[in-house]
Amino acid sequence: MHNDISEILVSEKEIDHICTELGQTLTHDYKDKNPILIGLLKGCVPFMSDLSKKIELKVDMAYMSVSSYHGGISSSGDVKIKMDLDISVSGRHVIIVEDIVDTGNTIVTIVELLKHRGALSVEIATLLDKPEGRTKPYVPKYVGKTIPKLFVVGYGLDYNEYYRNLPYVGVLKPEVYTSEESK
Ligand code: PRP
Repeated sequence: MHNDISEILVSEKEIDHICTELGQTLTHDYKDKNPILIGLLKGCVPFMSDLSKKIELKVDMAYMSVSSYHGGISSSGDVKIKMDLDISVSGRHVIIVEDIVDTGNTIVTIVELLKHRGALSVEIATLLDKPEGRTKPYVPKYVGKTIPKLFVVGYGLDYNEYYRNLPYVGVLKPEVYTSEESK
């Protein structure tokens, strides 16, 4: 698995630091509130776990399963809700927890949906932001690290469902996906 990675872009140590910093910021910004953390499956799982432990507030945690990549290396632009929330967001402050904002398709769709359902506020905490990938304008409020337009995997991010369990974020060697896609 590690042999398929050309470069480590965000190390375990840096991820730990990002979670601590963002956790402190969120603790401060939401100190008088009782926010819901909404993780977008599946990519959010490691970040949701590590970030939530650094937020020193009573929060509830919920999940939606959303997909726009359908296994490939670029967004299809078609955002599918595969599993919906099991709680109401009406009257609540929501923090969406994401691994990456790329085209913006996913986040723009979900923010609109949650506001339509009556959320008082909707912000996003994303580990990675790839602004050069944007096709829809969106500026995430809480960002761990801004990265260039590279195809990255690890710490929740996948290629064809693999590499999510890498403890760091790395650049996938192009030969891995070009050889797979030519099959
Ligand atoms: C990834 C990622 C974000 C989204 C970002 O999810 O977790 O949700 O793409 O890309 P966008 O800004 O271009 O919409 P994906 O659809 O691959 O599902 P997954 O989380 O199950 O891997």
